Amino acid sequence: MIDMAPAEVVRAQAWTAAEMTTKSNWKFSWPAQWQAEIKALQEWTLNQEDPIQALQKDSVSTPQFDQLAQQIKYEVQEGNGVTWIQGVEGFDQKILNLLFLKISLAMGKTIDTYGRLYGILDTGRSYKDEAIPVSQTNAATGVHTDSSQRAIQPNILGLCCITPAIEGGKSKVVSAAQVHENLRENTPQKLELLYDNYIRDLVTPGSDKATQNVLNNYFPIFSYTNGKLSIRYMRYWIEKGHQRVGNPLTKEALQALDFLDGELNNEENVVSFYMNSGDMIFIDNTRILHDRDEFIDTPGQKRIYTRVWID
Ligand SMILES: [Fe+2]
Repeated sequence: MIDMAPAEVVRAQAWTAAEMTTKSNWKFSWPAQWQAEIKALQEWTLNQEDPIQALQKDSVSTPQFDQLAQQIKYEVQEGNGVTWIQGVEGFDQKILNLLFLKISLAMGKTIDTYGRLYGILDTGRSYKDEAIPVSQTNAATGVHTDSSQRAIQPNILGLCCITPAIEGGKSKVVSAAQVHENLRENTPQKLELLYDNYIRDLVTPGSDKATQNVLNNYFPIFSYTNGKLSIRYMRYWIEKGHQRVGNPLTKEALQALDFLDGELNNEENVVSFYMNSGDMIFIDNTRILHDRDEFIDTPGQKRIYTRVWID
């Protein structure tokens, strides 16, 4: 018997695209007096060989940024699960990354599997030709949560836009709760299949991709533990993982994934927006899925984002 998340718990967290457009509590602005704290951060870096590695929660006093971080964390964990900070312009990449990390550290411990801050940019490679994260390409990622590794499920995902794409690269977020309830209503048997374990391919740089390790890398898409609904999903690596171990998905499982994808891509569920340079988003990676469109770089403008995972 599957321990399926009860409707009353899930419904309380669900939102549609239309509902999010009427809400403003997920949008944040920078504190009015941010200049002094930026200056303090800049001065602190002068004595640091590698400021990104050296920075700790309390290295520099930034009470206003810390307060903003607490408001964001609350909204991510207890509210809609999505936050968007807009409106800083004119910072260079170095100071933006430092500010991004400082705010992240005020929310919790970073998970450094990919490095403390991970650069998201097109390396000219293809994730279809080699097992590399889609974040190293210019392709659309498909709606997903971060990390296909069983042992690592970041609670909060942060993304900072350093340079937007000249074309494409639109950001999208979806509520897992909304999708879960739509599936419960329309196709409950398929929803049950999404509580099964699925194997995921291993793509984390440096991970041992031996078959036995892929076989061990299984977990459900939806799960309900300690009163909390959680989702972990990236279809491409599920199909690849099952192929790699010679255990392709059944017709029923593929159908269930098709229904899930249908909901995840239904525009009634998807909130889309373009991030500008200096914008940051923080989302609950256990119950909000994200996606970005394919993008185009030009020699003069390369899309660069920085990512952080917070435990
Ligand atoms: Fe991602």
